[in-house]
Amino acid sequence: MGHTKEDYPVKRYPVVDFHTHVLPKMDDGSRSAEMSLEMLRRMKDSGTDIVVATSHYYGQKESLESFLHRRGASLSRLREELDDTYPVVIPGAEVAFHFGIEKQKDLDQACIEGTRTLLLEMPFAPWSDYELNAVASLCYDKKLTVVLAHYERFVGFQKGNDMLERILKLPVFVQINAESLLPFFGSKPWIRMFDEHRAHLLGSDSHNLTSRAPNLDKARAVLRKKLGDDALDRIDSCALKLIGAEVDA
Ligand SMILES: [Fe+2]
Repeated sequence: MGHTKEDYPVKRYPVVDFHTHVLPKMDDGSRSAEMSLEMLRRMKDSGTDIVVATSHYYGQKESLESFLHRRGASLSRLREELDDTYPVVIPGAEVAFHFGIEKQKDLDQACIEGTRTLLLEMPFAPWSDYELNAVASLCYDKKLTVVLAHYERFVGFQKGNDMLERILKLPVFVQINAESLLPFFGSKPWIRMFDEHRAHLLGSDSHNLTSRAPNLDKARAVLRKKLGDDALDRIDSCALKLIGAEVDA
């Protein structure tokens, strides 16, 4: 009984989990360093090499200075326990859209460390010209690389308007949550977006070990089966570029 290629997917690039709440005691994600370590252990065991820690940042409730201070302390605490048997953890943020965000002076510091890549959580409501113009301003005036966090969760709010087509005309990247690619969540439209190169990045958006546990490998298996290795290579190389890693052409 031999192993098949399916058992050992060939990885061309390191695998990045682009959206996680793995840092301890930062938000509604991991509640302790122990939980974070177990989450990271599961991620590594299921093939993830690099984890972007995108704790929630709400600019209307907290200064960026305070957030970065808390994040630094949380990451240092975790790094005391991390070694090279865990994935590499890179600090970032899931930045909630707020009124005036396009004018926030220090916003570039909320980007993934060492980059101009901003993971942006849009409002869970119908968007208006204001939101669209603000995102355009983040792209063109602030020259940030905007990644729309779990794009699929906003689609239902935009029925009857043209906001989805319009936002996708901006130079933004689209991140989809792993769970949305699993069969019981009506995965077809999102798989199609990856197929048509209109979705670019995958994240587990994992918060804990139970209800929102690491699951990137399951979504990758779906994409691999439906779209083949090229689709995963595309996602992986895109993620590496957006975290500032060198990628072979
Ligand atoms: Fe999230």
